[in-house]
Amino acid sequence: MKKEIVVGVTGASGAVYARRLLEVLCRDAKVHVIVSDIAAKIAGHEGISFEGLNAEYHGNDKLFASIASGSHKYDGMVVIPCSSKTLAAIANGYADNLITRTADVCLKEHRTCILVTREMPLSKIHLKNMLAAEEAGATIMPASPGFYTRPQTIDDLVDMVVARVLDHLGVEHNLAPRWSGSDA
Ligand SMILES: Cc1cc2nc3c(=O)[nH]c(=O)nc-3n(C[C@H](O)[C@H](O)[C@H](O)COP(=O)(O)O)c2cc1C
Repeated sequence: MKKEIVVGVTGASGAVYARRLLEVLCRDAKVHVIVSDIAAKIAGHEGISFEGLNAEYHGNDKLFASIASGSHKYDGMVVIPCSSKTLAAIANGYADNLITRTADVCLKEHRTCILVTREMPLSKIHLKNMLAAEEAGATIMPASPGFYTRPQTIDDLVDMVVARVLDHLGVEHNLAPRWSGSDA
């Protein structure tokens, strides 16, 4: 059966991660997209557009949307990139917009909730919020690609992060090489 996934895009740097994830997900899954106001501005600044995707778009203020209710069955959610502000809201159950409400629903319904955080350095507040979100059932996947596959381009680095997210969603892909061991 087709997966149904919600993708929330918030105002951290790295809109390119969201665009790439959406491109892949929209091929096979039913996808809901929510972009916060500041995320849309930052994406424009970073040269990324979320237009033209085969997805259902929701305004972040639309708390009457289907996905705001636990009774609407979907497989899970990814917040990518996830700002420290949205992380704080999710970690504390402060569900005042559709992105944080949907994450709240995923956690209470024990559905997949992946937070692709991006900030550096991390304050004690950020770290505590990550731990609280993880303990509530979220998966924290910082946007920090590895270099052991010798990426050649920015696209390779983006794909490495998106590939791990897809793995956790249980979506098949061929985005990045898999480690098959070394004699070293
Ligand atoms: C250009 C720009 C880049 C930003 N990058 C980050 C970032 O990487 N991580 C982060 O946590 N916040 C970042 N912020 C701050 C967030 O956008 C801000 O906290 C905002 O309130 C997040 O709102 P949202 O989570 O509702 O999208 C950035 C802001 C700007 C203007």
